[in-house]
Parts: sequence; structure tokens; C-alpha cells
Amino acid sequence: PRIRHYNWEVKYEYKSPDCFKKLAITINGQTPGPTIEAQLNDVIIVEVKNSMLTEMVSIHWHGIHQRGMPWFDGTGGVTQCPIAPGDTFVYKVAVDVPGTFLYHAHYGLQSEHGLYGMIKVSLPPGDSEPYTYDYDESIILVDWYHKSTYEQATGLSSIPFVWVGEPQSLLIQGKGRFNCSTPELETGLCNTTSPECSPHVMTVVPGKTYRLRIGSVTSLSALSFEIEGHNMTIVGTGGHNVEPFTVKNLFIYSGQTYSVLIKTDQDPTKNYWIVSKIVNRNSTTPNGLAIFNYSPNNPSVSPPTIPPVGPAWNDVDSRITQSQAIKARQGYITPPPQKPDRVIVLLNTQNMIDGYIRWSINNVSFNLPGTPYLIAVKNKWHHVFNQTSPPDGYDYRHYDIFSPPKNVNATYGNSIYRLPFNSVVDIIIQNANTMKPTESETHPWHLHGHDFWVLGHGKGKFDIQNDPKKFNLVNPVMKNTVAVQPWGWAALRFRANNPGVWYMHCHLEFHSFLGMGVVFEEGVEMLGQLPKSIMGCGDAKDFHKP
Ligand code: C2O
Ligand code: CU
Repeated sequence: PRIRHYNWEVKYEYKSPDCFKKLAITINGQTPGPTIEAQLNDVIIVEVKNSMLTEMVSIHWHGIHQRGMPWFDGTGGVTQCPIAPGDTFVYKVAVDVPGTFLYHAHYGLQSEHGLYGMIKVSLPPGDSEPYTYDYDESIILVDWYHKSTYEQATGLSSIPFVWVGEPQSLLIQGKGRFNCSTPELETGLCNTTSPECSPHVMTVVPGKTYRLRIGSVTSLSALSFEIEGHNMTIVGTGGHNVEPFTVKNLFIYSGQTYSVLIKTDQDPTKNYWIVSKIVNRNSTTPNGLAIFNYSPNNPSVSPPTIPPVGPAWNDVDSRITQSQAIKARQGYITPPPQKPDRVIVLLNTQNMIDGYIRWSINNVSFNLPGTPYLIAVKNKWHHVFNQTSPPDGYDYRHYDIFSPPKNVNATYGNSIYRLPFNSVVDIIIQNANTMKPTESETHPWHLHGHDFWVLGHGKGKFDIQNDPKKFNLVNPVMKNTVAVQPWGWAALRFRANNPGVWYMHCHLEFHSFLGMGVVFEEGVEMLGQLPKSIMGCGDAKDFHKP
């Protein structure tokens, strides 16, 4: 184990990742940011300087538990005061699980605008994975918008509501392609010959096995990912090995990572397409394309074939089938506790509050208080947020999840679930119809600070009597992000054994921005003194570092 030190400067810069020039948020001039490559039990120190002139920032280490130092989780307003323009904040990140994780901004809509990257945690020499490979590569996927965070955030918070619409392009490892001949474009903004938007190339040697780590940080899209003519064997997700199974395309939701094995056993005289495609919406966005280049072919020569079109956007059954096929690997199973101490049902609905469109959980739309929860809870500042617990469920006897809400009105809330330390909690995430008839969306739910067991997925309304009898208590996979399909549900279980305050939310940035989240607290009284560096806002403003 070592200490790895990074110095990151975060700023806005003009970039053209899909040939269209816009202000993107970069780390040391890059988007995606640098891949953190660490070995198990390393300690990573990241010194973040916020050089954005007018925006605060915080960076979340997605999938990493930050046990014993929840103040470095990087969730602005939950675990720390966001970093003011010109300030520097030092994160300490303990990579205590091998696998593939992500990092991204956790403030406003900044992740969508370029502040994201991957964390690879390898095993120490001598230890090995339960599978073999010759090379270890990674690819990170996002959707990409041309409008600024300001325009998007303002539109989403206005009457009338201005929806962000479909992304302009899909980026694969930070590169995509927008059609520059779109008529309404101002001249000079789009340049298809810019080297910044030449497609990403993954060069491979024939006859080898590649471990490819794939991550998604999309802000609206669920994706299908495939490599033309090549099967992928899924062997891991996040920090867990899974029972291997082979697919032609991988469904990946925002906040998830997968490790797949790919054999370079196809005709080596040509190149192949790598494709990402939106599958949760009937989208107009063109598929993302990159090149799978067999060495020594010319990497810049497009494959001679038409790129595969991918699965139909509304083929929800295939997505559920793939999710259900993911099981913990034999020999690597962490058995779940057989019973929960508490069951919380979270109904996801789209609502109105005073004319604003919002997302709500059990009719409460989440809003951050002015002082971060961790600081308020530790200091028992009860006035900071509403001290009554949010609802543990909804009126499931009467609520019709297949129709728009009968009463669309919801309320804002900032109360949190306080969990007895070490208790076992089941979360049932129930999806419902939006305010439009016959529409329900896909929501990838992410929990900070924990991995949870995925006990089941299903269609329709979760049956509190009978569905728990079908839970997989034998070999459920552990994850930090689970997809909830349209009009469907997901059931997960976790142990509240990580002292801190933890956000749980839809990982689609536009949805969490509109209130689609909840907060859990456990064991904060066990923590020592909070570092001064997280202070400086709200009621903690006088604690700011000198
Ligand atoms: Cu990757 Cu709270 O998110
Ligand atoms: Cu969502």
C-alpha cells in the first residue's frame, strides 16, 4: 500500500468532444478526467483546486465507502460545504476494495458537463482474479449536451418548465460526433475535422483476452454497449465478481461499472465498431461510435461494415432478463442477512409543486438544507432540517402505479431516515407512471457509502406479501447502483454499518436535481471530530479554515 498524490485543477475550457465547441469542465485540461490507477489499500490524496470562476464544486468517489471518513464522500450539501471558487480542498480516498469505480462532480449539473472519470483498483501482485486476461483496458460512457449548466438548471427550475431534451451526442471515452450540418448552427462552432472529435480507438492484438472495464456516468440515458462481432463475458461489477455469463450487448445504467472479458478472435484484417445506444427513451440522438482496431491495421480506418443498430429502445424485457442474470460468483458470495429490521418503500413519481415540475419520493421532493447534514447531525443543530422522518412507504393499496398521479401535488422536504447503527434495511424502489399517460421512466438508484444486495427485480406493483418470498437470499450480487425499470420495482438490502450521512438518489443528474433522492444517517455519534476543511457554509460558515 502506498500513498498516491494527485493535484487537480478544475476549470471551464472550450472543448469540442463531439466536434461542437462548448465550455466543458476539465481536470488538468482533460475531460474525462485522469483515470486513477491504484492498488488495493492504497490511500489516494487528491488536492482539488477550484479554478472555475463562478461555481462551487465537490467531487464524489462513487462506489468507494469512505469508511471512517464520510466527510470525504464529496457530496456537496450532504457531507461537506462545496469548494468555493479559488479554494483548494484535499480529499483522502481509501480504496479498500478491488474493482472499478467512478468519480464525478456532485454539485449542480457539473458531472454532465465533463467532470467525471474512472478509478481502477487492482489486486496486489501475487493475488489474482478468478479469471485471466492479457490486458486491462477501460472505457467510460456519457451522454453530452451543448447547452450550459446555467441554461439547463434555469430551464428545469422555471415556469414554464424547459426540459433539457435529448442529448446532442453520446461520448465514448470522451469522444463523439455531432452532425455539424445541422441547419440552425452558428458557423464556426462546429468542425468535423477537429482532432478532438476523432473517434476513440481501442487497439487490440489478435488472439488475446481483454478485460474491459466499462463505466457509465450518463445524465439521462440508459445505454446498450456492444463491440461488433465480439461477445462479452461479464465477470464483475463495481467491487464484486459475478458468475460469468456471455452477452452480445451490455445494458449499463448511469453509476454502474462492469468488467467484461473479450477475446480478439475475429478476422484480424479489419476493424470493428464499438457502439453505445440509448435504450430508455425513443431518442433521436445518434449512436455513439468508436473503433475496435486490430493491430496492425490503420487505427483511423473506419470498419467496412454498417455499425450494429443495437436492441430496440423499448425492449424492457431483455433489460430485466440481463439484470436478473447477474449473480454473485461462486466462492465470492457474501450472504445477505436473512431478515430486515426495517422495510422502506420508495415510490418514484413525477409531480408539481406550486407550478414547478419535480420528482418525488413518497410525495416528497428532496431539497438540500443550507448546512450540510453531516455537520448538522454531528452538532445536533436540529433547526437545520426537519427532524421528523420521511414516510416509510406510500398508500400502496390505493395508489395506481400505471396511471398519472390522481393528485399531482407534492411537497418539498429535507428530512432524513435515521437508521440504528448496524441495522438491516430493505429498500423497495417502486416506479410509477409519470404525469403523462402511459409513460414511466428508467431510474438507476445509487447509494453512497454502501454496497447493497440486489434481492429482486420485477414488473408492476411490488407485492409486500408475496414478492419477498421470491427474494434471492442465496447468491445475490452486491452493487451500489441498481436500475428500476418502467412500471417496475427493485428490492435491495443493506447493513447500516458505515457511520455517516449518505445520499441515495437517482443517478440521472437531471432527476436528482429535481428532487429524486433521500438521505440516510447512521452512527454519526461514533465519529470523531469533523475536519474543519468541510465547513464554511450555512451555519458552519464561521468554522472556515483560516
Ligand atoms: Cu455517482 Cu451521488 O453519485
Ligand atoms: Cu431518475
